[in-house]
Amino acid sequence: MRQKIAAGNWKMNKTFDDGISLVKDIVNGAETKPGTLVILGTPFIHLKEAVQATSYNDQVKIAAQNCHQETKGAYTGEISVEMLKSIGVEYVILGHSERREYFRESNERIAEKIKAVLAGGLKPIFCCGESLEIREEGWHVRYVKNQLKRGIFDLSEEDFKKVIIAYEPIWAIGTGVTASPDQAQEIHKEIRNAIAEQYNDSIANATSILYGGSVKPANAVELFSQADVDGGLVGGASLKAETFLPIIDALPAHIS
Ligand code: 13P
Repeated sequence: MRQKIAAGNWKMNKTFDDGISLVKDIVNGAETKPGTLVILGTPFIHLKEAVQATSYNDQVKIAAQNCHQETKGAYTGEISVEMLKSIGVEYVILGHSERREYFRESNERIAEKIKAVLAGGLKPIFCCGESLEIREEGWHVRYVKNQLKRGIFDLSEEDFKKVIIAYEPIWAIGTGVTASPDQAQEIHKEIRNAIAEQYNDSIANATSILYGGSVKPANAVELFSQADVDGGLVGGASLKAETFLPIIDALPAHIS
């Protein structure tokens, strides 16, 4: 069966010292249940120290929030997969709606980055999700399936098995408005069905699909208890140990 995951996405927050102290508070405070995983998506400056600070707990991993699709070269300001790998980072968040919107990352660009991450031996957390307008017009399922198709559905089975999916409706990100457990379950099930159609049932059942968008201690238990919600990708509430630790705790234990 699949892993249950509480992932934090710090976005552009925390000075170096504040970030490392948060990493330590989380790794020291987390009571990780069997079969669960915590992933902290920190800014680049924290990554190396964060990897070291969490190395004693193999249920806590570190993610970058972006990388470049090329292996190296004249790309001022960019970070390669090999660089991330060289400091022990294991995951990379890709396709976040903020990258799609503010940095004009297309489905095609995201697909290139996903392939670069997998080719380098790291694991992508692939984000998808619709805007409020699309949700209100009622074609969010079709929209998300198209993002999956163009972002990750041409991967080999072997590569696809390394992908974590995060469904993050844009209207729920940073707004305080959370998808209801039913809304999350509905689309997570659609995503899992699409994976089964593209690959097979066993791959679909093994894929972790996280929900993101205003996850907080007050709603995490109910969201994470939905059959196809395998945890969360958390922004604001991952910036404080007192709000992220209860979210880690909300993951159901999983014994395979
Ligand atoms: P919030 O939890 O702040 O809504 O952010 C969600 C998100 O974008 C995680 O990637």
